[in-house]
Amino acid sequence: MKIAVSGKGGVGKTTLAALLAQVYAQAGRNVLAVDADPSPCLAGALGFPSEIRSQLQPIAKMDELILERTGARPGTVGGFFTLNPQVDDIPERFSASHRGVRLLEMGAVNLGGSGCICPESAMLKTLFTHLLFRKDDVLILDMYAGVEHLGRATVDFVDAMLVVVEPTRRSLGTAAQIKSLANDIGLNRLWLVGNKVRSPEEGEFLAAETPDLPVLGVLPADMAVQEADRLGIAVYDHVPALRQAAEQMAAALESQLVKSA
Ligand SMILES: Nc1ncnc2c1ncn2[C@@H]1O[C@H](COP(=O)(O)OP(=O)(O)OP(=O)(O)O)[C@@H](O)[C@H]1O
Ligand SMILES: [Mg+2]
Repeated sequence: MKIAVSGKGGVGKTTLAALLAQVYAQAGRNVLAVDADPSPCLAGALGFPSEIRSQLQPIAKMDELILERTGARPGTVGGFFTLNPQVDDIPERFSASHRGVRLLEMGAVNLGGSGCICPESAMLKTLFTHLLFRKDDVLILDMYAGVEHLGRATVDFVDAMLVVVEPTRRSLGTAAQIKSLANDIGLNRLWLVGNKVRSPEEGEFLAAETPDLPVLGVLPADMAVQEADRLGIAVYDHVPALRQAAEQMAAALESQLVKSA
């Protein structure tokens, strides 16, 4: 199962990605979590101890590896480099595991067809597509940006795109944009996840405002989330209300995917 998590900046994408990864790992599934943020923070959200975190480095920053695989040094423009470098060994070699969640940090991913045509984007693009083709038990993508950079492979292989929103009109506006961009490329398996929800009214607001985007579930606002971050503990371990909400969401998603299959 492949789940992509998207949404406006700061809404809680990383918090949700970490919670779901740990819910699935706890259920005995093999989970590969991918951090596509230029300044990675999923390791922290997963509560990876610092000695394990120190083994990780975003692929985008591995100049020597990119040179070895593409034939050109990152930062160079023009010249020759391969557009389909070997990447199949990368997920295992450059990831780290903790409590059943394997984590790969990709770094800044500009997957767009337009924009930068450079060795590092060739590398990341190929790696991203490879991850989508792989037969991982559970793949969770913490997407940094919106979905404007997603290609065909995403449409074909992502089982669910979760759009995280706060109960505000502004946040819902971004969700609507994401939905329309996703629909443009043919990706229709989208669900909304409400986060930082403080009351039943706020939950109802989300459902009422987005009749064409089903709400998979909501995560309550909880001061303990920030506390977990400060203490370096996973929200999964520190905030039972969020863990339970994520468990329900994972179950709801499985049953909806079975229904739509
Ligand atoms: N349910 C919640 N209750 C309270 N605070 C929350 C909740 N969820 C997330 N936060 C806080 O909101 C902030 C942003 O969360 P998070 O990093 O998960 O968002 P993000 O969408 O991944 O952000 P970015 O766009 O920067 O990657 C963090 O400080 C986090 O502790
Ligand atoms: Mg994030």
